[in-house]
Amino acid sequence: MATILGIESTCDETAAAIVVDGFEVRSNVVATQVDLHAKYRGVVPEIASRAHIENILPVLREAISLGCPGGLADVDAVAVAYRPGLIGSLLVGVTAAKTLAWALGKPLVGVMLENNQAPPLPAVGLVCSGGHTALYAVRDWLDVKLVGSTIDDAVGEAYDKVAALLGLGYPGGPIIDQLAAEGDPSAIRFPRSLLGRDSLDFSFSGLKTAVLYHVRGVPGRGQDVKSAPLTTAPAGQDLKDIAAGFQAACVDVIREKLRRAVQRVGARSVIVGGGVSANRGLRESLKHFPVPVLFPLMRYCTDNAAMSAGLAHLHYAGGRFDPLNLDAMTYSSIAR
Ligand code: KG4
Repeated sequence: MATILGIESTCDETAAAIVVDGFEVRSNVVATQVDLHAKYRGVVPEIASRAHIENILPVLREAISLGCPGGLADVDAVAVAYRPGLIGSLLVGVTAAKTLAWALGKPLVGVMLENNQAPPLPAVGLVCSGGHTALYAVRDWLDVKLVGSTIDDAVGEAYDKVAALLGLGYPGGPIIDQLAAEGDPSAIRFPRSLLGRDSLDFSFSGLKTAVLYHVRGVPGRGQDVKSAPLTTAPAGQDLKDIAAGFQAACVDVIREKLRRAVQRVGARSVIVGGGVSANRGLRESLKHFPVPVLFPLMRYCTDNAAMSAGLAHLHYAGGRFDPLNLDAMTYSSIAR
């Protein structure tokens, strides 16, 4: 029996969890910073790092007291999500994990988040969150290679920015998802950017701009459309149709990129993770995909440490540990 303490601080949630043998989640504590970032309508990296420093010890204490009756002595290994994420945020979790592993004399396991169920391999992994939209070829659980990523905004970021320009709250994803359910996805056709026939990369900034122009009008020469006052904010059915049209464009692009990636990798399944995996439109549209598509349970869609500890079990069982000089890695420093 292996008891793993997982730590996650990749973006704006500080999380710790105790997971036994990969699947038995004994505790899963998440301190969210949503309120801190809401007024900026997006994650402010410096604020996130500072909040992680304040939250990490209370979150760890709670996860350990709920999940380990014998305290830290019960822990067999310390796992941490060390990539991808915001560098200042990642550093807090990685430093806490390294310190605990060193002080306890227990192995350190650095994990990159994926789903920990057991779909047929090879698989395509899709990470769609506020910070990332990326496709991975998963040939084995510990053989994961990046094959495509966004060249500008992440899909969750596009949701948050479109929500902001529509005058909605933060995080925008769940709000747009809800409005979209009552809108007509074909009422407004927003562009689908596919970046050429073979590309596995994503681009969402053009779609975001298309929504901006739809709402505020196309700017004239030298005009800054963002600073123009919004005379009539979309409301009622109009707002729902914009949400539905935007969501349909995001979902279509993701589905097409998944189709290409599955073909390229020869995948037998797709595994989805990250905050946008909670999206109902995305889940619905992938119900009849040519290969099985696995989504996490809703409580594991947004950042949490149970996924880190669950995945770390595979590393632990394979004796695959990391040295104490493990570095946090942002997305851009991960090689394809
Ligand atoms: O993975 P996550 O919790 O944090 C990181 O980005 O690391 O993802 C948060 C993102 C936000 O952009 C949020 O708007 C989006 O996930 N999100 C959704 C939904 N729920 C959360 N986007 C679309 N539909 C949803 N239901």
